Amino acid sequence: MPLTVSVIGTNYLGAAHAAGMAQFGHQVIGVDIDQARVDSLNAGRPTIFEPDLEPMLARHVASGQLRFTTDYAEIADWADVHFVAVGTPRAADGSADLSQVFAVADRLGPLLTRPTLVAGKSTVPVGTAARLQQRLRELAPAGDGVEVLWNPEFLREAHAVADTLRPDRIVLGAQSQQALATMRQVYARPIADQVPVVECDLATAELIKSAANTFLAMKISFINALAQMCEAAGGDVVPLADALGYDRRIGRDFLNAGLGFGGGCLPKDIAALAYRATELGVPQLTQLITAIETINDTQRSAVTHIAVRSLGDEVTGRRVAVLGAAFKPGTDDTRNSPALTVAAQLAALGAEVRVYDPQARVDLPELTQCPSLDEALDAADLVLHLTEWPQFRQLDPAALGSVVRRKVLIDARLRLDRDAWQRAGWQVIQPGRATSR
Ligand code: UDX
Repeated sequence: MPLTVSVIGTNYLGAAHAAGMAQFGHQVIGVDIDQARVDSLNAGRPTIFEPDLEPMLARHVASGQLRFTTDYAEIADWADVHFVAVGTPRAADGSADLSQVFAVADRLGPLLTRPTLVAGKSTVPVGTAARLQQRLRELAPAGDGVEVLWNPEFLREAHAVADTLRPDRIVLGAQSQQALATMRQVYARPIADQVPVVECDLATAELIKSAANTFLAMKISFINALAQMCEAAGGDVVPLADALGYDRRIGRDFLNAGLGFGGGCLPKDIAALAYRATELGVPQLTQLITAIETINDTQRSAVTHIAVRSLGDEVTGRRVAVLGAAFKPGTDDTRNSPALTVAAQLAALGAEVRVYDPQARVDLPELTQCPSLDEALDAADLVLHLTEWPQFRQLDPAALGSVVRRKVLIDARLRLDRDAWQRAGWQVIQPGRATSR
C-alpha cells in the first residue's frame, strides 16, 4: 500500500532517496531550504551529477508522484514518515556538526499535531537519535506521539540509484513494533526482492553506519600500508591484493591500493566516530581510526614526493598534467579529493599544475583547469593519473607522447596498462608495484 513520505534535505542523499521512494510507489514530497535546488528538482533536474538519477527523478516529477518544496507546513501532518537526510559535516574539532539535524527538529516539531514517525537517514554520532526524539517531543503538539527511528543510508556516489533501489541491507533501529511495521511497508518492494532487514535499537543502527564506513576505510588503509611495504621490499601490491581477495573471509572489494579514500563521507564519518569514541571512553577505537587516517594522509604526500623526485627536485615552473580531480570516478564531487590534495601540494611547491577531469570543476585558484585532455598534457614535464576514470584506460600512450615534453607517468591509482605505456616509450611509476624491477 502506497504511503505518504517526506524527505527533508535533498542534496546527494535526499534527492536519490526521494526519487527512490517514488519508484517504490509512494507519494513523495522533498523539502529543502534552498529555493534554487527545489526549483531545479521540480523541473526534473538533479543539482548533482549522478548517473541514472535524472530519468528517474524526471519521470516521477512528471507523473505528480514526486515534488519538492521549501514549506514544512506542506509536509508536517501530511506524511506517514518523515525522512531526515540533511548533511552532518565535519566540525573543526573532527566531531559531526549536527546543526542541520536539529534545525529540522526546530522547523518540523512545532507543526506536528498528530502521531508521526521521523526516520533518520543521515550519518550521526551514536546518541543523536535519542536527542532528536527528545527535542521533537518537546516542540510538537503531538508530544510523545512523535517517534524517531534510525534507518541509515549506505549509498555510494556514482551508484546512488542502484544502491537506493537495491541496497545490500536495510537497517531499522526502532523502538516500537508499529514503527517497524510502517518501515516494512515503506520498503515493501526491496524486502519482496529478498533484501535482508536488520532490526535493532537506535544506538546500534547509528553505530552500524559508522562501523561500515570505518571498516571500508580500514581496508583501504590496510592495503595502502602493504603497498608501502611492497615499495620498500620490492613486492607488487596488486597480486598481493588479488590473493587476499580470493579468501572469502577477506574479499577483494576496497583493496585497491593507490591514493587512498576521500569524498564527503568516509573521512568525516570516521573522524566523527573517533571523536565519539573518545567522548565515551573507548580510546582503542580512536587509536585505530587515527592510524587509518595517518596512512591515508601519507598516501597523498608520498605521491607528491615521488613526483618531486621524478622532476629532479626542481619543481618551480615545471608543467605537471593531472588526470582526474573528482574524489573517485563517476562523480563531479571534489570534496576531500586525494587528487586535488596532490595537485595543490605540487602547485604550492611552484609547479604549473594543469588539471583535466571529465566531470568535476576545480575551484582552486592555484590550479589551472583544462577543458580537454590535450590542453592539460600540452608540454607537460610529468603526467599524474590521480582519479581512475575508465576513459583514461582507453588513452593511446603513443599519441599522447607527442603532446608532452617528457614521457613520464605516475599512475597513482595503479589502473593503467603499464606495459602498453612502456612500449610507447614512457617511464611509468606505479607506487607499490615494484616498477623499478
Ligand atoms: C562511501 C560508502 O561506500 C557508502 O556506503 C556510504 O554511504 C558513503 O561513503 P562514497 O563516499 O560514495 O561512499 O565512496 P566509495 O565508493 O566508498 O569510495 C570512497 C573512497 O575510497 C574514494 O575516494 C575511492 O577512490 C577510495 N577507494 C575505494 C580506494 O582508494 N580503494 C578502494 O579499493 C575503494
